Amino acid sequence: MTIQFNEETFRDDYSFRNSDWAIKRFPFPFHEDSYMYSVNMEQHRGGPEGSVYEKRFDVDEHYVSEMRDRAIVLADDPLRCQSLPHMTLAGWDTLELIMVSKSEDYPDLFELHRDGNRWRWINKPMGIDHTFTFLDETTLPCGPLEYITRQAQGDYAVLDQRNDMLYMDAGMITTQADWSLDFDIGMDFFEWHAPVPLAHEMGIFKRALKFLLNIQQGAPARRLNWTMTVNPLLDTSPENYHKWGVQKTTLTPENIGSKQHLRVELQTFYRLPRSNALLFPIRCYLIAFQDIVSVPKWGRRLHRVIRDLPEELATYKGFIDNRPMMLDYLSQYDDGLPTSPGV
Ligand code: HEM
Repeated sequence: MTIQFNEETFRDDYSFRNSDWAIKRFPFPFHEDSYMYSVNMEQHRGGPEGSVYEKRFDVDEHYVSEMRDRAIVLADDPLRCQSLPHMTLAGWDTLELIMVSKSEDYPDLFELHRDGNRWRWINKPMGIDHTFTFLDETTLPCGPLEYITRQAQGDYAVLDQRNDMLYMDAGMITTQADWSLDFDIGMDFFEWHAPVPLAHEMGIFKRALKFLLNIQQGAPARRLNWTMTVNPLLDTSPENYHKWGVQKTTLTPENIGSKQHLRVELQTFYRLPRSNALLFPIRCYLIAFQDIVSVPKWGRRLHRVIRDLPEELATYKGFIDNRPMMLDYLSQYDDGLPTSPGV
């Protein structure tokens, strides 16, 4: 289908909206009526036509506006994109993977023409037509990681792999759920996960790391993660907590349906060919509560998940204070009927 790109904002007047199409394909993350952390990894081999899993790097109606929001964040704080000196090759690997995938998966929107190392990249939605030399940074306006991730929805962490460990040595992080690249840069897998409750004791991170270290080229993996955000904000960073944290106190029984958003991250994992780094794209999808409950089985299930979520998780995810109000709202949409397994 041809995508109609929305003209919308993720700040100030929050004009972000999901069309019926975007609601229908939303990656609702709950397979049962309760939720607990697990090593929920699977192969990333596409998915049903039209779903967010179908293409390698999903492009949707929010693309152009999300890229505009990223540019605003970077203008204010350039440290949201960083790459340690040994990660430049991984940046080129990332550029290649995204350009090849997008031009193959969306030939009407993106074109890549390669003549040896002379590459021409056309990005029609963003009005870019640029010829450059692959592996020659002087032919790009900025580093390869920054160049391509200014044109690709979602955040990107690039992990160096050495000593049987992953290190967060590069990234483009502007749509994150309250963590900071500038704080985490150079940390290892266990260090940057230190704030997460319960999962360490459950052995989840040890098993997850083992899985990640063995991801092979051409065999990407994926998982979903989720949290909650008041207002459709992409940039919920610790750097800007003073701006968005206070917005959580503006929730009322009257506005909760339109203001409270479920935030779902489609996380994928790709082994990169030249650098052997691991690319970790984190694609954020937002949906208002009032749109979730328009799908009866989602409304019913979300009520039960939020009601029974362990306190540690509701606290870590930042909605413990608003949980009673969420439950009052969602309980109206839970008729007590059983739900079937699966989404
Ligand atoms: C949270 C990064 C892979 C499970 C986080 C956080 C970061 C992060 C930065 C936020 C920590 C904070 O509060 O400061 C990454 C990176 C990964 C990766 C870069 C890829 C190498 C995984 C995998 C799992 C996982 C494979 C599998 C179980 C979690 C969980 C949380 C978390 C459960 C808490 C999320 C929540 O409750 O909202 N991760 N992660 N991560 N990560 Fe990862």
